[in-house]
Amino acid sequence: VKPYYYHCFNCHTQFSASEIEQDRHYLCPKCGKPEKNKPLHGALLISFDYQQLKKRYNRPFFLKQPAGQIWRYPLLWPLQPPEYAKDPPFQKIEWKELFSVDLPATKIHEIRVDTHTVKLLDETNNPTYSYKDRASTLVALKARQLGLTAVSTASTGNAASSMAGICARFGLEAHLWVPENIPEAKLMQILAYGGQVHLVRGDYDTAFDLSLEISQRMGWYNRNTAYNPLTMEGKKSGAFDIFIGLRGDLPDYIFVPVGDGVVIGGIYKGFCELQHLGVIEDYPKLIAVQSSGSNALIRFMQTGKFEYLPAETIADSISAGAPRNLYFAANSVRESGGFALEVDDADIVKSQKLINERTGILVEPAGAASLAGYIKAKSEGKIDPDKKSMILLTGSGLKDIDSLKRLHRRPDAFRAEVWQERYVGE
Ligand SMILES: Cc1ncc(COP(=O)(O)O)c(C=O)c1O
Ligand SMILES: [Zn+2]
Repeated sequence: VKPYYYHCFNCHTQFSASEIEQDRHYLCPKCGKPEKNKPLHGALLISFDYQQLKKRYNRPFFLKQPAGQIWRYPLLWPLQPPEYAKDPPFQKIEWKELFSVDLPATKIHEIRVDTHTVKLLDETNNPTYSYKDRASTLVALKARQLGLTAVSTASTGNAASSMAGICARFGLEAHLWVPENIPEAKLMQILAYGGQVHLVRGDYDTAFDLSLEISQRMGWYNRNTAYNPLTMEGKKSGAFDIFIGLRGDLPDYIFVPVGDGVVIGGIYKGFCELQHLGVIEDYPKLIAVQSSGSNALIRFMQTGKFEYLPAETIADSISAGAPRNLYFAANSVRESGGFALEVDDADIVKSQKLINERTGILVEPAGAASLAGYIKAKSEGKIDPDKKSMILLTGSGLKDIDSLKRLHRRPDAFRAEVWQERYVGE
């Protein structure tokens, strides 16, 4: 089996792993350049030797795997396997290191919505309680392999808290660039893990650009979503876990909350890889769900043009005026046969309440946007309700207490006698 290689989504040039990693390129060396408030041009993708890998990683193989244990198929990750580790500059990485980063036993549950049952992929049980851990884990492993000691990322909150927690596990330093309006619990989470917080007076898009500049200056490994190609690689594991968790009985539609578009892009890439490996024939249609206050992907898919508008939504995790993975995300939606749709914040909040009360899974607003999308798509006749649907619950509600405070007011307290009178009588 040959190691993986990189190629550019825009100009299609191929690069060897060492060309990219030795000089620490994140975007295409030929055409990539980050621009303020714009989706990334020249994002790099990673490909593997599927013809060889399919001999080992076939359908029966995947059907035997437990969910969440990504180290069981090490050759599908862009980490130098031990046999290649002697090539400089790679440091030897022991596969057993991966054993310490099991993702949770990702669970698939169900929710009844009117007359139909919808599957849920619950990502709220991950090590730091969001889907982001799938990317952070791979980035941390790569940092270790490259011999780096510090990782940096911009984030609305979850990527930063995730990176801080995963760095704590790996003994890496974490530098986090977050807008000052980051939900309190996410900020406390970062601080509790020992991450170094850099609060930015400005929005996520400002934090993104700033973190690129300073990481480069300081020599920190940058985990910015979509910018670092390993973020999408990590996020492809969701597709493998959906296949494993459902024992190969894939849904027809998967509803994905979209901000920067890396989760949806990663899931699409994961299903494509399963197809290249001959594990599946067809893959699910991916439905991108955005908030109407942060709908750049939807506008791009309608007009073919990107236009920057500042994002404003209660679902902070999907607030992105310039989705960095816009082009690949749009491609993922289109190629899978899905579509993009927007939901109002009020519907997101209603769905959040529904999920909390009907499943016992506490979700943050972004994590509930997927259900709001399902309900809307169904009511508008955009999906066949008798086909199988799945929604992604991407982050825990405990990370955004303010959003829960909007739903519930603190009850009044009474003395014991008052309660007794009410329930026991005189
Ligand atoms: C809870 C939650 N849901 C959805 C998303 C959307 O992911 P992406 O920005 O890759 O589209 C994120 C991350 O940004 C998230 O933290
Ligand atoms: Zn290029």
